[in-house]
Amino acid sequence: MPLAGARRGPARLVGYPFTLGVAAGDPLRDSVVLWTRLAPAALSGGGMPDRPVDVRWEVAHDEAFSRVACRGSDVARPDLGHSVHVEPEGLEPGREYFYRFIAAGQASPTGRVKTAPAAPAALAFAFASCQQYEHGYYTAYRHMAQEDLDFVVHLGDYIYEYATNVYRAPGGNVRAHSGPEIITLEDYRNRYAQYKSDPDLQAAHAAFAWLVTWDDHEVDNNWADEVPEDGQPDEAFLRRRASAFQAFYEHMPLRRGAQPSGIDLRLYRRLAFGDLASFNVLDTRQYRSDQACGDGTDVGCEERLDPARTLTGDEQERWLLEGLGASRATWNVLAQQVFFAQRDFNADDTQRFSMDAWDGYKPNRDRILRFVQERNVANPIVLTGDVHNNWASDIKADFDDPASRTLGSEFVGTSITSGGNGSDSPNQAVLDENAHIKFNNAQRGYVRCALDRATWRTDYRVVPYVKRPGAPVQTRASFVVEAGDPGLKPA
Ligand SMILES: [Fe+2]
Repeated sequence: MPLAGARRGPARLVGYPFTLGVAAGDPLRDSVVLWTRLAPAALSGGGMPDRPVDVRWEVAHDEAFSRVACRGSDVARPDLGHSVHVEPEGLEPGREYFYRFIAAGQASPTGRVKTAPAAPAALAFAFASCQQYEHGYYTAYRHMAQEDLDFVVHLGDYIYEYATNVYRAPGGNVRAHSGPEIITLEDYRNRYAQYKSDPDLQAAHAAFAWLVTWDDHEVDNNWADEVPEDGQPDEAFLRRRASAFQAFYEHMPLRRGAQPSGIDLRLYRRLAFGDLASFNVLDTRQYRSDQACGDGTDVGCEERLDPARTLTGDEQERWLLEGLGASRATWNVLAQQVFFAQRDFNADDTQRFSMDAWDGYKPNRDRILRFVQERNVANPIVLTGDVHNNWASDIKADFDDPASRTLGSEFVGTSITSGGNGSDSPNQAVLDENAHIKFNNAQRGYVRCALDRATWRTDYRVVPYVKRPGAPVQTRASFVVEAGDPGLKPA
């Protein structure tokens, strides 16, 4: 007879286990990842017994689960924080499904997800980033959940690592991080749990599949490969990085193949939507050279021009170029973290660039742009987070020469909350100094994109405030790009 303590469920759990909601990710034509994590005491370590627990799952054609498409069971293990990553197969392309989990006799909330269409004529999605919990309410996600989308892309800063009130929005914070700056696996788990307890965020997850990547705050502000922002000795930082990666995996709808091994998590990947669009989801943190010239912004930094330095790492760069070269998609998307186009902050003859962005790794960007030109990569579109502002920019063969070829466009999305309420006040000096940058806005929200064979349309969806709930949403600006004719046009 097995020991009672070694026996797997059916578990008796103290409290409702699905406090963090459900999520789906990375839709393929016949499969999608389904996620949940059992955490009846979410904010204090999860509250689960230290043993595996059985979880059943169901995928149905209808919200009432009267026509079940497939079902199965999985095991939530303590060494993965009792998270579950299910990959049902044999689904039909381009269809809407409903899913839920059942554990200890209790059912999760119901999620909805669409599989990737086999040969889509059109797609709609939204992208978002930067959701500092203390800076405001996730009203933008409440609105996003009401949109008619095929999927959502998240470009990082899903959590922030700081202790309570260390990162203050202008005018002060309206919610509080629980606990100190996060370092250990348990710290990271509790922080994800706090963020994921938000009902608006849960609603946006339950409505669509998400394609997620990270930026810096999932680990530490402006970390680079094996180098932390400050303070920690290397060995401690590597332990911290491993804990951060594991907690990221445990809380995201990522395929099981993304499960980290020590300090490595392969996050960059490609998702195809027929030959309409190819999404290259990048990781510009894990493999990068440390920021040039001491990070920050810098004038006259020579180090940023060193071709041996890299933002993507050599392997990811090769993978990206191979993928772009082989692509037959109408739209070739880079879903990534940091500002791709050149952005000169100085109004005079000198140039001041952010060392954390692609400007700080110019040869890496030049190699990609050269490849795009030489191989005639169709319609490159770059999606960016990180800077807590909306921007729209053309991508030039030579950013210092406005007459040079326009190769593609970049849409930079604002934050969900980071930076607090924000305002509709563009940085006119930067717009004047950088002719290829066409739009800037400092409100909060997300970006909605709709594309077909002929046209890409981008709508900047903004909310007027985030420090109290209930803000309305409006479209602040819209741009189109016509396939085969690169460059932004007002919609
Ligand atoms: Fe951020």
